[in-house]
Amino acid sequence: MGDGVTQTQTARRRAVVTGAAGGIGLALVEALLARGDRVVAADLDADRLADVAERLGIDVWAGDVASEAGVASLIAFADERLGSIDAYFANAGVFRGSGLAASEADWSASIEVNVMAHVRAARTLVPRWSLEQPGVFAVTASAAGLLTQLGSPTYSASKHAAVGFAEWLAATYGDQGVHVSALCPMGVATPMAELGRTTSDPDERLGHRAVVSSGEVLSAELAADVLLQAIDEKRFLALPHETVQKMYAGKAGDPDKWLASMQAFRAHLETTA
Ligand SMILES: NC(=O)c1ccc[n+]([C@@H]2O[C@H](COP(=O)([O-])OP(=O)(O)OC[C@H]3O[C@@H](n4cnc5c(N)ncnc54)[C@H](O)[C@@H]3O)[C@@H](O)[C@H]2O)c1
Repeated sequence: MGDGVTQTQTARRRAVVTGAAGGIGLALVEALLARGDRVVAADLDADRLADVAERLGIDVWAGDVASEAGVASLIAFADERLGSIDAYFANAGVFRGSGLAASEADWSASIEVNVMAHVRAARTLVPRWSLEQPGVFAVTASAAGLLTQLGSPTYSASKHAAVGFAEWLAATYGDQGVHVSALCPMGVATPMAELGRTTSDPDERLGHRAVVSSGEVLSAELAADVLLQAIDEKRFLALPHETVQKMYAGKAGDPDKWLASMQAFRAHLETTA
């Protein structure tokens, strides 16, 4: 059990983590196991997941956590292996589509994985939970869901929708035994972040430079800890980068000023490319 975490804060939970073959998802799995929780790890990437299963000795499920059939199969598998599910971490995500030319396929993949995967899991799990039988539904969104992601309209819009859905869930079920949290980091050192560094697409490169010049690129372990702490403290927003809180407040206070600052930031990144 981690420093400062007591058994009363986190009674041994039965958790599902999606996007758990690496990055933030794997860090969440490891942090939950360290707290004594039981975990099923899910991901599309069967090979990396098999390594996780072998190394951590946990049950894994390989498949698409966004499709209706995939979500139903994952939940049935976890119910069978864990007995039930008390906590669902909808963490799998994609960064697809850059600029206004982002394709129909990029838009639909972004909506399916970054939003509908959460909706489909919540539709099955949330009605099971109550004040007597509480549950946790955690969404890995992004600071892009509160602010924006320069270079990628698909990522920005789908992560806003992820935050919007999580807010709606919290407003509707938060007083009925369902705790909802949304993790909204800026840069985190994972394979997804690495793609932006190596791409030849100018919008993706601009997006990556926007992320790395806005704040420190944090570890996946830190992002996972900040989310688990927010859940322990029953807070909705989990913000590993403190500056996001200030930027979000600034945007709400004066949206035009915020947009002007984003335009200046984008122009600066374009001229220094
Ligand atoms: N890395 C960052 O800088 C950053 C910042 C903010 C938010 N996020 C979000 O964090 C989450 C985790 O991303 P990460 O940074 O760890 O990147 P990652 O690419 O390492 O992890 C994403 C995982 O999701 C899996 N996945 C994608 N689509 C899937 C599907 N349909 N079904 C099952 N698994 C699927 C991938 O195989 C991958 O293992 C994502 O939602 C991402 O948008 C990341």
